[in-house]
Amino acid sequence: MLNAIFKLKCTVNGVKIERDLDSSRTLLEFIRVDLGLKGTKEGCGEGECGSCLVLVDGKAVNSCLMMAVQLQGRELTTIEGLKGREGGLHPLQKTFMEEGAVQCGFCIPGAIIAAEALLRENPRATSEDIKRGLTGNFCRCTGYEKILSAVEKSKSCR
Ligand code: FES
Ligand code: FES
Repeated sequence: MLNAIFKLKCTVNGVKIERDLDSSRTLLEFIRVDLGLKGTKEGCGEGECGSCLVLVDGKAVNSCLMMAVQLQGRELTTIEGLKGREGGLHPLQKTFMEEGAVQCGFCIPGAIIAAEALLRENPRATSEDIKRGLTGNFCRCTGYEKILSAVEKSKSCR
């Protein structure tokens, strides 16, 4: 059976787009398959691991749990859309590198998006706030300490 086609208008990483979309697409499928933006990862597909996090209107959402049609008129930012002030690396990307917080890298886009959402809302987040803010992000490699210190360090370079 053919699924309905939906005309989606939204902003992706600062650029307004219009797309005909299969209405059964999840936001995660739309990002990875239709837009070809592979930084957003699919882990569990059930809202448990945080690897698929993106910002919608500045708030972190699990893109595996949202339908792409819900993006109508809204603003999507993926890991590819995060930039520093002069267009280079974003402060979180820099501090993750500096702190050696990346091993296989699979969870890192989601962890950076979670941290960005948290620090936009609360630039003075304490280490407890940061820990709480990243509880939905699973990492099988790093043991979390370096991720937490990278987020902490990024506060002074925003
Ligand atoms: Fe979405 Fe795991 S893939 S939360
Ligand atoms: Fe490998 Fe986090 S760096 S899962």
